[in-house]
Formats: sequence, C-alpha cells, structure tokens
Amino acid sequence: MSVATTQGISLTGLEGEIVQIEVDVSKGLPGYQLLGLPDAALNESRDRIRSAINNSGKKWPQTKVTVSLSPAWLPKSGSGFDLPISIAILSATDQVAQKNFDKTILIGELSLEGALRPVRGVLPMLISAAKHGMKRAIVPEQNFHEANLVSDISVTAASSLIEVLALLTGISHPRDIPLLTHEEVVTELDFSEVAGQEDAKFGLEIAATGGHHLLMMGPPGTGKTMLAERIPTILPRLDDLQAREVAAIHSIAGTQRLQQSHFKTPPFVAPHHTTTTVGMVGGGTKQIRPGACSLAHNGVLFIDEAPECATGILDALRQPLESGSIEITRAVGSTRFPARFILALAANPCPCGRFTGKGRGCQCSSIQVRRYLNRLSGPLLDRIDLRLTVENPTRAALAQSEPREASAAMRARVIKARQVAAERFTGLGFTLNSQIPSDQLRSQFRADSKAMSALHTLMDKEEITARGFHKLLRLSWTIADLKGVTVPTINELEAALNLRSNAERVA
Ligand SMILES: Nc1ncnc2c1ncn2[C@@H]1O[C@H](COP(=O)(O)OP(=O)(O)O)[C@@H](O)[C@H]1O
Ligand SMILES: [Mg+2]
Ligand SMILES: [Zn+2]
Repeated sequence: MSVATTQGISLTGLEGEIVQIEVDVSKGLPGYQLLGLPDAALNESRDRIRSAINNSGKKWPQTKVTVSLSPAWLPKSGSGFDLPISIAILSATDQVAQKNFDKTILIGELSLEGALRPVRGVLPMLISAAKHGMKRAIVPEQNFHEANLVSDISVTAASSLIEVLALLTGISHPRDIPLLTHEEVVTELDFSEVAGQEDAKFGLEIAATGGHHLLMMGPPGTGKTMLAERIPTILPRLDDLQAREVAAIHSIAGTQRLQQSHFKTPPFVAPHHTTTTVGMVGGGTKQIRPGACSLAHNGVLFIDEAPECATGILDALRQPLESGSIEITRAVGSTRFPARFILALAANPCPCGRFTGKGRGCQCSSIQVRRYLNRLSGPLLDRIDLRLTVENPTRAALAQSEPREASAAMRARVIKARQVAAERFTGLGFTLNSQIPSDQLRSQFRADSKAMSALHTLMDKEEITARGFHKLLRLSWTIADLKGVTVPTINELEAALNLRSNAERVA
C-alpha cells in the first residue's frame, strides 16, 4: 500500500498543461476521493475506472483511495484522465510493477469493460506534452493517427487497459498500426468543373491572392456554393505548422478532418445559416469547443444565404475578423482559439431569390429587398472588400467543350502574386493586401497619381465613401500583383471598380 504518480494532460484552448495524478491508497474504510478541481465528467470517472479494473482481471482496492490532481488551481475536464488514474491506482496497490512513469503521458477514456476509448484533442495535448519535455505517450488506438502528427514524442497505441499494462510491463511490444498517408490521391474539387463564370472566378482569384473577404450575390442555382467550395483549391497549401494547427483545432472539435488525406488543403467550413452563436464562434458548457470560425482557421468560412442568419450570429464574427482569434469566456475560465480565415458570404438578391433587376417572376417590393440585404450589418460589410455578382451561366458556357482552366494554374498565379506582396510588406507585420492599414494606404501604399486623383474625384462626387476608397485601393494592389504591375494604375483601379459596381447595381 503506497503512493504512485502518473501524468495526464489538461487542455485550455490549444494549450495543454501536464497534470500530476497522485494516488494514495491507505488503510481505512473503503472510499474514493478525487481532489483538485475536477469537472463533472471526471467526477463520474470512479465507476468507469472501478469497473474497468475489475473487468481487466485486476482488483479494485478495498481501502481508502485518494486521487489528487495537481496543479490544484487548474480546472480539469474530460474523460481522458481515466487511464492515468487507473494506472496510478494499480501501481499504488502493487498490481503493476512500480515503473518509472516519468516522461510518459497517459491518455484515454475507459469503458466499463476496460476498453480504451478515443478522446478529443489528442493532437494539441501531445504537442504541449512534447513542449513540456515528455518523451513518450500511450494513447487510444483510434487517436493513433493524429497522435503521430507530433514528431518529437514517441507514441504507442493501445486498445484496452490490459494492453496498456502489458506494454508498461514489457510483456508485449507496440503493434504496427498502419498510418494513413497524406499523399493519397483524393478526388478534389476543381475550378475546371465550373462552366463560364469568368468574372466570378477572377474575383475569387483576387480574394485568394489578397485575402479579401467577399460577398457573392446571385439567384439560387447560379453556382455560388460551387464557386465558394473551390476557393481552398487556389489558396497556397498549408505548411506543416499551419496544417498541424488546423488539425489541432479539429482534433478538439472531433471533426473528421484528421481522417482525411487532404490535410494540407486549407479547410472549407460552411455552417448553415441556422447555426447558433456557439456553433459559429465556439463555446459550450463543460468543455469549450472551437466554433466554425476556428475550424475555418487558415482557410475559408462560407456562409450561404447569409441574410437569413439569426441576429447576432454574423456580428459575432467581428472579433475574429479584427484580431484573427476568438476569446470565449465561461465560468471555468477563458479560452482563445485562432480564427483567421477568408470570409465568403453568399446572398440571394432578394427574399424570393428570383430578383434579377429585370423583374422576372419576382414579386418582392423594393422595401422587402432592402430590408433583406440590410440584415448584413454595416460593420460586417465594412470588412468585405469584394462584392461579386453571380449570374446564370450562359448556355454557350455550359456547352463549351474545350478544357477549362484548372485550379492548379490559378493557384500558381495566386502564390506568385502573394510573394510579390509579401516582399513589399517585409518588416511591416502583415503579408496580404487586405491587411494594409488605412493610414498606410494614404501614405506608403498609394496608387499612381492618376489613379489617386480618379479616386478623389469619385469621393468628391460621393460615388464612393472613405471606406470604399480604401477597399478599392487594396483591391487595386491585388490586381496589380496578379498582373505584374509594380504600382496600381488607372487600369487596375478600373478593374477593381468594375468588380464592385456590378454588384452594387444589384444591391
Ligand atoms: N457554372 C456552372 N458550371 C457547372 N455547373 C453548374 C454551374 N452553375 C451551377 N451548376 C450546377 O448547379 C448546381 C447548383 O449550384 P449551386 O452552387 O448550389 O448554386 P447556388 O449556391 O448559387 O444556389 C451545382 O451543383 C451544379 O451542378
Ligand atoms: Mg448555394
Ligand atoms: Zn424576389
């Protein structure tokens, strides 16, 4: 009868903290006490652990068991502590040779039968564990694939408490578990599948290059969703760090992304317009989960039929749009998740969707139309540089037989233009044209004099607002970068104006 210590890990946002689990088994009336800010799920662990131990051919101690989790101030949540607690109990009761658990992290939930069940967030847990100097981890088999994305810690998978004991005592050796490879070819979406829509495609290429948020307006069935879904295919592939960060967020949310092989493609996340604020930005009562805006980190957040969103949902995006992250505050503490994405909104031109400016079959009054579009609040629209009109593709475009340009060709141009911009902004703390601060647009990053005076004339005639002035300049820079022009001229400005005014006429 003695004391044993194992290590688990607790997550706050993407950050993990090592938790020491100390079990003291002493003479006294049978009882079980859990100390150190456990949440409800952890408090329920006793029955699972007792049953799992009994069903694994081991004995639950008929004495006083005290489990203490430290640091005590840290709120601990989830069921991932089942495994380290059980091993500590078995070790304290001499049922497993008192091994040196130093530098080994144990993660997993136990079923009543003693099976090791997967938990959420294993990837960020192990990234943190490695940072804290841990050398080895034992994780549930279903989490093995994501756990292996962390290179600086040795990972062993197990499917039951019995297997963990066998591994710890050296009776059995780690099994070879086949890993999914990231190289597998998956049928990816491609812009070559979209007929016509040359203007919209050019608009999306601009958005991808400058990181501009955008709004697509057009009647149902014109291909807005189809176009939006293909934006990630023309963004640069994620580098290892970005891919891991995205995977870590998805690991906590428990989405399927980790099972997918296109792990380096920027994510595309499309919450339905009926989603809640928690669904959009994250939250939850027990464990704080990332929302759609964090799942879309380093990728695209697409909101179809955006004016249909309940009040407040779109406004909740203002914080991530401004700061690139979202802070969620709950009684248990506050958590920050990264949330830097390209926002793509789609809207019908009117409540019935048929409005084409020519009145075909649309009965909506102009007041109804205005009210519908006004649901997209001003502060949100302020952040949207690009408004695109999407019209029905012509029959000729649909029938066209020669091959259409593929996403790879568009992506190559995006990457090249992004490099030009990044070089221009060296040392300034931003890399994309959409991020140029307004004051620098008026000083360092002006267009040429003819374009600037054209912009001022438009302002004087009140055809554009100060905000429109800045958006047009940012877009002109992106168009210039795509065309290989060093400083935007009247041509790039006109191209930018053209993209905007089409949509403005509809609105
Ligand atoms: N330009 C296009 N080229 C090929 N197919 C198209 C095109 N536009 C629309 N479609 C077809 O119409 C369907 C509906 O398009 P969708 O993107 O859902 O429209 P929207 O989102 O504007 O309502 C698509 O799944 C696709 O099959
Ligand atoms: Mg759609
Ligand atoms: Zn209508």
